[in-house]
Amino acid sequence: MNKTLHKLYIGLFFFVGIASVVILVVNSYSYYTLPLTERVFSSSHSFFKPSGSVGHGLGIIGTLMMIFGVALYMIRKRTRKLFNFGYLKNWLEFHIFLCTLGPIFVLFHTAFKFGGLVAVSFWSMVAVVASGVVGRFIYIQIPRSIQGQELDFIGIQKMDEELSVRLSSEFKLSASLIDSFEHHFMIQKYAGLSLTKSFSIMLTDYFALRKLIPQLKKSLRESGITNTHSIKEIIKLFKAKITLTRKIGLLRTMQRLFNYWHIVHLPFAIAMFVIMVIHVAVTIVFGYKWIF
Ligand code: HEM
Ligand code: HEM
Repeated sequence: MNKTLHKLYIGLFFFVGIASVVILVVNSYSYYTLPLTERVFSSSHSFFKPSGSVGHGLGIIGTLMMIFGVALYMIRKRTRKLFNFGYLKNWLEFHIFLCTLGPIFVLFHTAFKFGGLVAVSFWSMVAVVASGVVGRFIYIQIPRSIQGQELDFIGIQKMDEELSVRLSSEFKLSASLIDSFEHHFMIQKYAGLSLTKSFSIMLTDYFALRKLIPQLKKSLRESGITNTHSIKEIIKLFKAKITLTRKIGLLRTMQRLFNYWHIVHLPFAIAMFVIMVIHVAVTIVFGYKWIF
């Protein structure tokens, strides 16, 4: 998938997600904001109550989205025959899209009332989504190939060298200019850090990077590079190199954290699905069949 296609792919997710939520909120706001005791008298009750034509449908569609979102990603990730079927990172993006919009639909399905055993399923769902956001953050801290596969140490080194070569040969940056920013490329400063220190250094780095850009622009202009496009590209390369340095420095910590993270994300997903199955079975026994 090239860059433009990828932008369209992500743009489509945002468009569908935002449009669905806006349509839902505009049409149901007056119903969901009514006190619980008054909802039964509303003309919208038959649509938006959890067993109503819209409310029930949202539960079913939202749940199917989560089932597909999880199943497709797990199958693609684990089946050898599918290793060349689209990049894994794009499948993860699809997982995130389906597993973010699905829970939003389920939230509307509950009509914002969370009682009984199924509330455990609901809160497990909230926990999986929240842990997903954390997991995504850790995931991007681990250097990966374009396909989204974790790189080994040689792969990471090659990536780092490519960035240095581009800076010195493509843009003819002098060694002294690169050296003046050398302290940003020192892996050693990340050695032996505790988890809290690792996160605080990430925060410090973020602000240091923002401060660095004007300094870098100034140095580039002083060294005779005035073309705006070249300056933009060089800044991009510098940022990529600094970020990669940090990722290399914190690699072991992030890999370990990501392994622990899987131990949290998966059980909540299982708890959510198991209780949801009981919930659906009970509703069917009680005769709720939606439009069927
Ligand atoms: C993870 C997915 C789901 C969650 C967290 C969930 C949650 C809930 C909650 C909290 C309620 C109760 C609202 C209240 O107190 O009135 C509810 C009601 C209901 N749900 Fe779900 N639901 C899910 C999926 C589904 C699915 C897939 C179906 C149908 C196949 C479904 C069918 C119903 C029905 C029919 C009711 C109304 C029951 C009644 O009025 O007695 N739900 N759901
Ligand atoms: C109810 C919603 C969700 C469910 C049920 C769910 C479930 C799962 C499951 C079962 C896996 C393990 C896949 C595997 O190891 O093969 C997984 C992986 C993952 N999920 Fe989710 N997820 C949900 C939402 C999210 C969200 C909202 C995000 C991000 C914002 C997210 C990010 C991730 C990441 C980063 C991975 C790890 C991918 C990897 O290790 O290759 N998930 N999810």
